[in-house]
Amino acid sequence: MIKLGVNIDHVATIRNARGEGHPDPLKAAKQSIKAGADSITIHLREDRRHIKDKDLQKISRSKFIKLNLEMSANKKMLKIAIKNKPNFICIVPEKRKEITTEGGLNLNKNYKKIKYIINILNKKKIRTSLFINPSINDIKLAKLIGSKCVEIHTGIISNKVKEKKNYQSELKKISKCAKYAELNNIEVHAGHGMDYNTAKILSKISQIKEFNIGHFIIGESIFYGLNNVIKDLKKLLSNANIRKWCRYCRKL
Ligand code: PXP
Repeated sequence: MIKLGVNIDHVATIRNARGEGHPDPLKAAKQSIKAGADSITIHLREDRRHIKDKDLQKISRSKFIKLNLEMSANKKMLKIAIKNKPNFICIVPEKRKEITTEGGLNLNKNYKKIKYIINILNKKKIRTSLFINPSINDIKLAKLIGSKCVEIHTGIISNKVKEKKNYQSELKKISKCAKYAELNNIEVHAGHGMDYNTAKILSKISQIKEFNIGHFIIGESIFYGLNNVIKDLKKLLSNANIRKWCRYCRKL
């Protein structure tokens, strides 16, 4: 069964727009799990533009929620992570001016720093992952670093699918990397920019065990509700016959 991680950063974005407490990311996290999400992802950015430290504290305390914390590779974040002890950590690149994570990590440049952090997290028994571009070389480096998982950046294929451009070469690249990672005993995840269409396309790559989807789920929930969108995505990822069950993603 392919797992679905629901990224709830943008629940916090909406909450922060008013500077008050509604909508509450913890409530969204609990509701997502009830609807069938396997885990909840939050990205505690250095500028705290959406998820705040208090959200991390509250969500990580809930025994009901498997939490995947995305964070940049630095000692300050490592300290926060160890204190809150999420189930999973995915190291991501971070630039202050970007709207969203623009690409995978530069593992060549940051090799030592990332290896140091991954080593500590592995010892703490937190599942480790690195957000990488679909590159065989990066998978080789992830193996040397000791990361248990990689999350393949799906931004390029997602844009191609949305713009109705030919996405076959990007799909092949992702598929080749997923196979290579699995052969090297690295669990493969994928995410970024995904929607129903990309979930359907990428779920055919059997080596990908988990997808992390955020912006589309929260946006689509405005129209159809969080429960319905998560349920549909879960069914879609299980490769069920889409016409038989799909109530909300009818355009597929
Ligand atoms: N995976 C990682 C590592 C990310 O940084 C993000 C964006 O925060 C996502 C998945 C989810 O991307 P999106 O919000 O576009 O679905």
